Amino acid sequence: MIPKRITFQARIYFILNYILHGVIELGKKVVVTGVPGVGKTTVINGAMERLAAQGVSYTAVNFGTFMFDVAQKENLVSNRDEMRKLGKDAQKRLQQAAASGIAAMSGDANIIIDTHSSVKTPTGFLAGLPEWVLRELMPDLVVLVETDPDQILMRRLGDDSRVRDMEGARAITEHQEFNRAVAAAYAMYTGCTIKIVRNENFLLERGIDDLVGVLR
Ligand code: AP5
Repeated sequence: MIPKRITFQARIYFILNYILHGVIELGKKVVVTGVPGVGKTTVINGAMERLAAQGVSYTAVNFGTFMFDVAQKENLVSNRDEMRKLGKDAQKRLQQAAASGIAAMSGDANIIIDTHSSVKTPTGFLAGLPEWVLRELMPDLVVLVETDPDQILMRRLGDDSRVRDMEGARAITEHQEFNRAVAAAYAMYTGCTIKIVRNENFLLERGIDDLVGVLR
């Protein structure tokens, strides 16, 4: 069946492909998650560069950017780090808007969605991929990028372009554990697989290798 929410060009592609080959090929949808500052974007960029050299093309989208575009238009926040402090209902509405926007642009393209398994808010962990987001995205694979909490702490301290919540190694460990737990629920709901990629200091290339291995 042709997906309902895709661009006109993608719809034409599906129809032609169906007429010519009798098949409808969908692109791969991969969700890459990890606590703030673990290096999701760095690993994604490295993997995309390597895959492009091998002729495998992916488009990367940042879920937070989709949310931020809407939040800014509505004058809700002045920077992306304020979004996790918004009320639960506002964050849910922004999630919904981001999920529909991303679902509408996918289709036959391979897509990587850079986002969070859970978001730490003032009132507790908020699922990054609740049912209304999963229903739109239906990922084939969810990747958890992880490393040791002290490395994450140092990376956050070294990045002054963002407004990070200061937390210790124990809190980061707890967040990474919660991310794994909630990812299990995503696998149960969608049938996607879960891959854990380690992104350790001085071993970025190994993390990129691991991600490339599941994206190919
Ligand atoms: P987003 O922009 O995704 O926030 P983030 O996780 O803080 O993203 P960063 O880009 O800072 O971290 P990163 O893990 O990509 O690390 P990076 O590669 O830059 O989201 C913004 C907001 O949107 C969220 O706070 C939330 O409110 C909202 N949001 C998003 N998705 C949501 C969802 N599904 N539901 C609800 N809300 C959602 O690397 C960090 C640093 O580490 C860099 O300096 C880098 O050079 C360094 N580094 C990386 N790898 C290594 C390595 N191996 N060795 C040494 N240094 C390294």
